[in-house]
Amino acid sequence: TWTIGNIAEEQIARIREQIGPDGRAICGLSGGVDSAVAAAIVQKAIGDRLTCVYVDHGLMRKGETEQIERDFVAATGAKLVIVDAEKQFLDALAGVSEPEAKRKIIGREFIRAFEGAELEVIKDAPAGTKVGFLVQGTLYPDIVESGHGAGTSTIKSHHNVGGLPEDLEFELVEPLRELFKDEVRAVGAQLGLPSVIVQRQPFPGPGLGIRIIGEVTRERLDLLREADAIAREEMTAAGLDGDIWQMPVVLLADVRSVGVQGDGRTYGHPVVLRPVTSEDAMTADWARLPYEVLEGISTRITNEVAEVNRVTVDITSKPPGTIEWE
Ligand code: XMP
Repeated sequence: TWTIGNIAEEQIARIREQIGPDGRAICGLSGGVDSAVAAAIVQKAIGDRLTCVYVDHGLMRKGETEQIERDFVAATGAKLVIVDAEKQFLDALAGVSEPEAKRKIIGREFIRAFEGAELEVIKDAPAGTKVGFLVQGTLYPDIVESGHGAGTSTIKSHHNVGGLPEDLEFELVEPLRELFKDEVRAVGAQLGLPSVIVQRQPFPGPGLGIRIIGEVTRERLDLLREADAIAREEMTAAGLDGDIWQMPVVLLADVRSVGVQGDGRTYGHPVVLRPVTSEDAMTADWARLPYEVLEGISTRITNEVAEVNRVTVDITSKPPGTIEWE
């Protein structure tokens, strides 16, 4: 019979075979559930021939890099290398506003950063050692939505499917490619990952880069990080984290509107709250958050984040909207 335990055991055996007795793998850790569970499976299969690489692309939310360093390592004991690639990503993204262009650039820079990290990974290994395998937490819906499933067309290039460079030097290992999110969470829990990791809400690989509508700059990222941190704090304080699938906070960086604060006119940017409920992210409904919670988020963001003078709520289901704005 089919159980979550079988899935994990089957994948561990399959991956041990794929990678072989001497193969080495690296896994790009995004901080999300998917890559953490994929890494945990591969860790069980090949032990410390796996090295996890966390590329700090500068597009993460507030406090996230520190949290990954702490929680993931504590839970798995895995080898973790952190690559500081903020400048590399922001330089590559300069002047780019078009969503698919951003996604492809981010995907490409990710792989470059990994290839750089390979040197770091093998520096203590016997001469001639190569890291042949790249572990990715690709899920079934990612494959369908990137147009790689049968009879589908491309909606968005998920950064872990589209945008790979032609000269890719790794063979991909994708232990989750037949699974949906709820199954991934169950497998993760079965492998002993703590709930702070397995219950984490989804966060896209391209990070805040696809939540800034317009060009991505350091200043805009800092603005969005503040607004997002406030929204998350208020949701947690209200006890609502378990009621929603996720809540992207989106900065409309190319839009300005007139407001008034104190005695003065403001001319700032709107942010959009995008709370959704969903089973598997293939479809979603907008979450009916309590007005008091929305009010608390709005008041704090407009008071605490200079430059943001309006907070709006996205009330579109998927379809016709997608969950992320880009
Ligand atoms: P959309 O916007 O397509 O999002 O409705 C569906 C789910 O996927 C997440 N998402 C991504 N996850 N890499 C990821 O790992 C990506 O490039 C990516 N784009 C979207 C999104 O947050 C939602 O949960």
